[in-house]
Formats: sequence, structure tokens, C-alpha cells
Amino acid sequence: MTSVTGFTLPPYPHDRLVEVRAIAERAEGGLVDASVGTPIDPMPEVVLRALAEAAPSAAGYPASIGSLRYRESAAAWIARRFEVDIPADAVMACVGTKELVASLPRALSLRIPERDTVLYPAISYPTYEMGARLAGLRAVPVPLDDRWSLDLARVDEADADRALVLWVNDPGNPTGTGCSAEDMAEVVSWARARGVIVASDECYAEFTWDEYGAPAAPVTALASGPRDVLAVHSLSKRSNMAGLRAGFVAGDADLVAYLGELRKHSGLMVPAPVQAAAAAALDDDAHVDEQRERYARRRVLAVEGLAAAGLHHNGGTSTFYLWLRAVEGGEDGWSIARRLADAGLLVAPGDLYGEGGAKHVRVSLTVTDDALERVLGRLAGAAAH
Ligand SMILES: Cc1ncc(COP(=O)(O)O)c(C=O)c1O
Repeated sequence: MTSVTGFTLPPYPHDRLVEVRAIAERAEGGLVDASVGTPIDPMPEVVLRALAEAAPSAAGYPASIGSLRYRESAAAWIARRFEVDIPADAVMACVGTKELVASLPRALSLRIPERDTVLYPAISYPTYEMGARLAGLRAVPVPLDDRWSLDLARVDEADADRALVLWVNDPGNPTGTGCSAEDMAEVVSWARARGVIVASDECYAEFTWDEYGAPAAPVTALASGPRDVLAVHSLSKRSNMAGLRAGFVAGDADLVAYLGELRKHSGLMVPAPVQAAAAAALDDDAHVDEQRERYARRRVLAVEGLAAAGLHHNGGTSTFYLWLRAVEGGEDGWSIARRLADAGLLVAPGDLYGEGGAKHVRVSLTVTDDALERVLGRLAGAAAH
């Protein structure tokens, strides 16, 4: 047998939950899975209709960069949601965004080989770090401040000089934190001053609320102009289309064109009916308003209900995640997760997103209202005993 000396893959983050999942499965009343951000509410009618109507268009190969219709709908949505104008030819389709997040550092390093470092938030979606490692690049976490926002002043200038790209995720998974438009502008100018590309993952931009729970305007890195900025957007969360795999990237026209060509060579394509469905989804805001209300309702219910388990949310006000820690003591996230699993609630221990999250758990509000009420009732019952 040949010995393996190459890259050893770490365990997939959520696969580490096997034992805690088994506890939750044994709970009376069964498992309620709040550990992953996979939407469970229905796909909008407009999407289903467009998908069915466009099914015959799958006979031929779709354009890798995406149809003009899809790219125009994306640009029009950006204009409505963020009040930023981006031409359709500075928009490119991707097959959901996880593949883009995982492959972007490699793609950018082919273009800019003299830079070898990827900066990413120290507590964040694990694929930012993974994309750097898959590209053979240095993955350097950016420290967060006490509100879970990037603290760029603490980045070593030597790392900044070597940085190819800085990942930003606003509002962010797993902490739910969003920054102000001014803060985002500062992040972009920090990066530009150092020749670093900003990859701004804005996939939760439809689920933004203020501290009173009222819908709030989202921020985008594109507000600082498209130069050296790539905004990454997904239909998965916005329109409950995770299984269809549709996303797009918008921003710097030269970078988008380069990535588009590279992806054409690689054979990456979003199926034409999926593009049609995604365009129809982007043209419609009514289903997003409904979804936003669902998550807002569950957020209030879950924050109150989890308080009965001695947990308090100390993340931000946006996304569909709660970021919780024990009110008393420094209980470890795995211990909290086991405790909740005893009542059937499966959550993600915070260290899956970075060491600094070790005392937290992330609860995803992608569970039905019924299931949420049921499991919170069980936790309240357990607390009363
Ligand atoms: C921050 C963030 N970015 C990207 C994604 C990937 O989403 P998709 O590949 O479905 O577009 C997720 C999914 O959970 C996410 O949380």
C-alpha cells in the first residue's frame, strides 16, 4: 500500500455531531434538528412554476456565466435591496455558493500568484478556511471584537501584505451580527489600501432586523463601488431553494469576467431550469417578506424558550441563527449541546465555527413552528423538574 503524505481532510464539521445526534434521537418525542441552516419552509409557488415551465430548456448546455435573464434579475434585485447599480455583465452564476466559497481562493491565486494568504473571520462559516487550505494557501483568522465584528486593527501587517482575499460575512453565520454601512465601507477601504480583494458573503442579507426586531436595511460591500469587491449571493436561504443550487457573484467586472472564463473551462454550470426558477425568485419579494416574518416569530419564541434552559442569546439581531451561551458559569458548547439533546433539540456547538466560539451553541431557526413549540415545551418541562 502506498503511504499517504498529502493533504489530510479534517472531519466534516457537522459529522462531529454523531454522538450528540444519537442522544437527541433517543429523546422522548424525537429529534428536532436545529443544527444546520437548511431551509425547511416551502419553496415559493413562483419558483415551482418557473422550474416546471423551463424544464424543456435543459436539453442543451446552459451558459456557464448564467443566462442574461438570470443576471438581469440579480442586478435588478441588488438595485432594489441595496440601492446599488451593477450591470448584468458584472454578475455571474454559481452552483449555489458553497462551491464558490470553497474554490474562490484557488481561482484568485491562479490570477494573482504572488499573494498566498486568505483572511477570514475567526468565528465563521468553516468553508472560508477550507477554501484556503484546498488551494494550498495560508488561512489566517481575523480576530473579532466583543460584538463579533472584524477587528482589522489586530491583523498583522505582514499577513495583510500577503493577503489575496478577505472574507466578510454580513450579517454573519453563526453569530447573527451585522455591521453598519460605515463599518462596511471601512472594511473595504482597509482592504483596498492593501491590495486585498474583498469577498463579501451576503447570503443572509434578506434576514436583517434592528434591536427592536423591526426589519432593517442590509449592508453590502458593493456600496463602496465594485473595484476589487465580489459580493456573493445565494438563493438557498432567501427563497428556500437550497436543493436547487443557485447563487451568483456580482462586483468587479474584470474579476467576474476572469472567474466566468475559468468556470467555463471547468464546466461549472447552473442548470437552465434552475436559472429560470432563480430569476423568477429574484423578481418576487412577497415570498421573502413571508419568510422573514416566519423567522422573526421563531426568533422571539426560541430566545424566550431557551432562557428556560439557562441560555441567553448574545449574538446579533439578524440571520436565522441564535448564538447562545449559558447565563451562569462558563459551560462549554458541547456540554450545552448534550443538555439540549436530552430534550431532543440538536444544535451546533460553537467551536465548529472557530475556537473563540467554544462557549456557545448555534441554534438554527430552520425548524417548523410546531417542532419548535414542542421542543421548547419539553425544555420548559425539564427545567421545572
Ligand atoms: C455564510 C454562508 N455562506 C454560504 C453558504 C452556502 O450556501 P449555498 O451553497 O446553499 O448557497 C452558507 C450555507 O449555510 C452559509 O451559511
